[in-house]
Amino acid sequence: PPVFLRDYCAPAWRIREIELEIDLDPAATLVVSRLAVEQDPAQADVELVLDAEHLELLEVSIDARVLGADEYRASAQTLTIPGLRGRSVVGTRVRIAPEKNTALQGLYLSGSRDAGFLLTQCEAEGFRRITPSIDRPDVLARYTVTLRADRARFPLLLANGNADGAGELDGGRHWARFVDPYPKPSYLFALVAGNLEHIEDEFVTAEGRRVRLVIHAETDAIGHCGWAMQCLKMAMRWDEQRFGRCYDLDVFHIVATHDFTMGAMENKGLNIFNAKYLLADPEHATDDDYRHVLAVVGHEYFHNWSGNRVTCRDWFQLSLKEGLTVYREQEFEADLASRTLRRIEDVRVLWRAQFAEDAGPLAHPVRPDRYSEINNFYTATVYEKGAEIVRMLGVVLGAKGFRRGLDLYFERHDGSAATVEDFLAALGDANALDLSAWLAWYAQSGTPDLRASGRHDAQRRCYELTLTQRTPRTSGQPRKQALPVPVAVALLDADGRPLRLHLDGEPATAAHERVLLLTSDSATFRFIDVARPPVASVLRGYSAPVRLEQAIDAAALAVQARHDSDGFNRWFATDTLARRLFAQALASGEPDPALLATHVRCLDGALRDPAVDPALAAEMLTLADAGSLADGLADIDPEAVHQARAQVERALAIALAEPLLARYHELSGSDGTAVDLAAQARRRLRNACLAALCRADPRHVDLARTQRAQACNLTDRLAALSVLVNARADGVDPMLDAFAQRYAGDALVLDKWFSVQATEADPRALARVEALTAHAAFRWTNPNNVYALIGAFTLRNPRAFHRADGAGYRFLAQAITRIDSVTPQVAARLATSFGAWRKYEPVRRALMRHELEGIAARNGLSPDLGDIVGRTLAG
Ligand code: ARG
Ligand code: ZN
Repeated sequence: PPVFLRDYCAPAWRIREIELEIDLDPAATLVVSRLAVEQDPAQADVELVLDAEHLELLEVSIDARVLGADEYRASAQTLTIPGLRGRSVVGTRVRIAPEKNTALQGLYLSGSRDAGFLLTQCEAEGFRRITPSIDRPDVLARYTVTLRADRARFPLLLANGNADGAGELDGGRHWARFVDPYPKPSYLFALVAGNLEHIEDEFVTAEGRRVRLVIHAETDAIGHCGWAMQCLKMAMRWDEQRFGRCYDLDVFHIVATHDFTMGAMENKGLNIFNAKYLLADPEHATDDDYRHVLAVVGHEYFHNWSGNRVTCRDWFQLSLKEGLTVYREQEFEADLASRTLRRIEDVRVLWRAQFAEDAGPLAHPVRPDRYSEINNFYTATVYEKGAEIVRMLGVVLGAKGFRRGLDLYFERHDGSAATVEDFLAALGDANALDLSAWLAWYAQSGTPDLRASGRHDAQRRCYELTLTQRTPRTSGQPRKQALPVPVAVALLDADGRPLRLHLDGEPATAAHERVLLLTSDSATFRFIDVARPPVASVLRGYSAPVRLEQAIDAAALAVQARHDSDGFNRWFATDTLARRLFAQALASGEPDPALLATHVRCLDGALRDPAVDPALAAEMLTLADAGSLADGLADIDPEAVHQARAQVERALAIALAEPLLARYHELSGSDGTAVDLAAQARRRLRNACLAALCRADPRHVDLARTQRAQACNLTDRLAALSVLVNARADGVDPMLDAFAQRYAGDALVLDKWFSVQATEADPRALARVEALTAHAAFRWTNPNNVYALIGAFTLRNPRAFHRADGAGYRFLAQAITRIDSVTPQVAARLATSFGAWRKYEPVRRALMRHELEGIAARNGLSPDLGDIVGRTLAG
């Protein structure tokens, strides 16, 4: 049954202190807990109900008196102790079997029974699978944790907080105690036990605290943790400098695992990472991996304030910590790497994943008003759209005002659980503004359409820009209201130089950019002293998460593409041109030659101009993926979308063959294993040129052969291999075998090898994917394997997934049911690939619906999968 935001009640019982004693063993772990509970006197009639799932309950006590079986009630989800009043210490003893826990929530085993290690994942509701407790984020307790285990098998014992003693026990066992001085909700609890190696460093905070930094990983991976350590130190310094946030314990641990359903987890003082986002070295990681490690290490570290010191009152407020932390992560990468590139990537993700989610049956507000399975709300909407809201507030308040607001938020709510209202109030109070209108962004689902149209009046030398917004109805929300939409604007002359902006009725300034705030359905802004018709550069930096419809001609877009001082809008203009070409190809089978020529001139300029960042040029060359191109279409025929997209790609590549080839050779061979930003940018452009050349002319596949043979880093090797796979080049199978052999035993690289094959844009890729599920390196129980092979196939290979015969759908449905009995969260996530089923042409729509109904009709569906499938069919 769903839980509703409007039903929120403050907890009737709180826990001041939790003492845990855990005897670790993969087959049978004993957990003894003492909870110092305290009743809210205003709710004296409410019984103490503890959350408890998948536990073997051995004993319950009150103030050290063991209870008889008639003194408590245990169900599959709860442990109720009637008749309790005021303060007591509730004790429990339970047994759990981590080695059988394939759901990967609670305490589980990573790796093999004899050599693997034990670890936890508690967010969102995993703590209740470890011990009975009040498992909700607004109950914050101080934890003292004692771990005991066999010393030879589990030499390393870790829990949150500072170490507080360790010693030997009989029978080859040992113990270690940890005290976390900061009260925390149960979802931030963590422990790790095993035989891991570590690297160590030190960081002195701006407040003078010496912090031990330790990264733990298995023997074969510990050599790949150096980059993550550097990233951690950069993140710690950056958060001090940009936001005044210092670390607050004497030690910070990070642990890497290959068995993790998500990216990483911000447990207090003991972050746990999917190895995919922690390990990086030139032979085993791509340039993208290096950037992802930087971003995710930053993200989890930043949670120490935005999430841990100030946490969420309830799970409806999830975006309070996730949206804010994604924004902080984005700014971190923007400051340390490239602002423009990170923005382009974020917007691509927003368009592909979030706009699609918001337009389908799984649409929900950034702050949902109901849920039946919270783990299904770790979505693009909560994370990415949530970050966009924070970014808009940053744009409106300015850097200083935003910092003031965030300082006040952390100061007011330190050590407690907050709401979205609290966040807006702090940002507003610090700036003497009422920001309550922004709540609508959190409450309203759907992507707003923003129309921008300009009119130049030569006689009165003015330019009027009219902005109009409208949010289409979404499932469950028929009526929409106007939102505050910040639109960053510049006006360019014909050579792309920005004009001074002078808004009618305001004093003149020297500013070249201006943020217009649209607060109603429509508004017109008049700029004066504009002699000639300008090129309007609107939504600079993508200042609001809207679908922009702009009345702008190709010539004006070309001015932006070549000269706009806003790097994002340069790319945005090329993307808009490419989308117009795609629309023409889809409608009439051919892009318009004049438009094509305009776009070719833009890309040609970017390719030849040494002042253009090669990475930006690469992004300009990279067409939006098919899913993003199909945004807004009805009755989608994925094969037609694929053909139209391929046609535009080919036409561009043929027209640009000469500069592509010249640039490819010019960029060849110089960067080796260097992973600095400049080297990465050159590789990115070079590999974009290679892919384009091979589309234009199959003879260029020889370039890919040479590159594959000579590559001295994984980025170049994989890029070449992907081109060869997509070209179905002669001898590609032995090459794939050779690659697998070279990296045998390296799970993360083999995952990329799975993905390269799963994303071959050809219906025959399905057969390959099916065969690969039997490969020795593929395990259905490993989420990374599943996402790399099956997830890549469904999300990044629309042509094969949407095969007209429905075989792709059948394959996915079978995979989902199989995985559901192992790792429900992963099954539920895979099932979202059916989310857009209603948008497809009737035959595919019926085929997808058939598979969804087939899954829904099965017995024993997990709540996770049942929730996704149910909403997908209903919406
Ligand atoms: N809080 C984690 C993050 O940094 C995500 C954990 C989500 N886990 C889950 N089982 N839903 O984004
Ligand atoms: Zn997060």
